Amino acid sequence: MRILIDTDCGVDDAQAIMMALRQPGATVEAITTVTGNAHVKHVNRNVLTVLDVMGADVPVFPGADQPLVPGYWEAEARVHGEDGLGGYKNRPATARQLEAEPAAAALVRLASEAPGQYTLVALGPLTNVALACRLDSLFPDKIRQLVFMGGTISALGNTRNVTAEFNAYCDPEAAEIVLDAFAQATMLSWETTLKHPFTWEQYDALAATDTPAGRFFRDTTITTVDYLRQFRQVPGYLLPDPLAMAITLRPELVRESAMHYARVELQGRATRGQTVIDYMGLLEREPNVSIVTGLDTAGVYALYQQMLA
Ligand code: BDR
Ligand code: CA
Repeated sequence: MRILIDTDCGVDDAQAIMMALRQPGATVEAITTVTGNAHVKHVNRNVLTVLDVMGADVPVFPGADQPLVPGYWEAEARVHGEDGLGGYKNRPATARQLEAEPAAAALVRLASEAPGQYTLVALGPLTNVALACRLDSLFPDKIRQLVFMGGTISALGNTRNVTAEFNAYCDPEAAEIVLDAFAQATMLSWETTLKHPFTWEQYDALAATDTPAGRFFRDTTITTVDYLRQFRQVPGYLLPDPLAMAITLRPELVRESAMHYARVELQGRATRGQTVIDYMGLLEREPNVSIVTGLDTAGVYALYQQMLA
């Protein structure tokens, strides 16, 4: 499996990247970055740090520093820290460099060089992916599969626009462009994230792994865990981007999914960024998303054990 990862590398993105890097039979061929959890300048550095920790060489292409329409984005520092990696204290200095080519141009070039071969896993606001669609209208056809973490499927969001999920909320126009351009994509929503946490006991066991990857996992999750534990609505350690990566790497982990037509609310006074799912087929449009609603969390735990070993 040839993989491209587009990321706003926060804490859970880092884990998703680590999972892909440690998956036999999968090759991460490029990582593109975008402003989301933190500004892209932090995100760039975070991706280089992950590559250092994992000892992996992957080209990193710097991407969009703000959403398509300016004025809405704000960093998610409460969950991911100001640096996007939970205020990571043991960060090693890096000798790595970013590529000069901008993310959207790199996505278009790579897809054109190997049409039908790349699986694109999008873990942040869809700004770069939308730009790639606009740079090359055939870009979606050249991607083998798009899997994205984003959106809500029953209006239970995690942002100030309470029905909107963070990635869609950050750049609703981009999400709308991508859903419109791709004939089919796989969607891992916020509600599916809430349904498939690790228990705190599972989290504690993983955080005790005494390896470079295990110590990185422990050190970068402290801020997020302190934040999440305050909410009685949060059932355990949440895995938004890692679940999207897990079902990409191991599609057999999906237990339940269904095809529907989805688009994005761009105007709502209180709901801008909400994904709108046409469950009843009222719009008579071809389904464009495979919505994953059930998956094998034990299988995801095994992937964590593999990546932290
Ligand atoms: C998504 O937003 C970010 O906080 C996470 O990295 C994930 O991509 C969850 O809503
Ligand atoms: Ca993310």
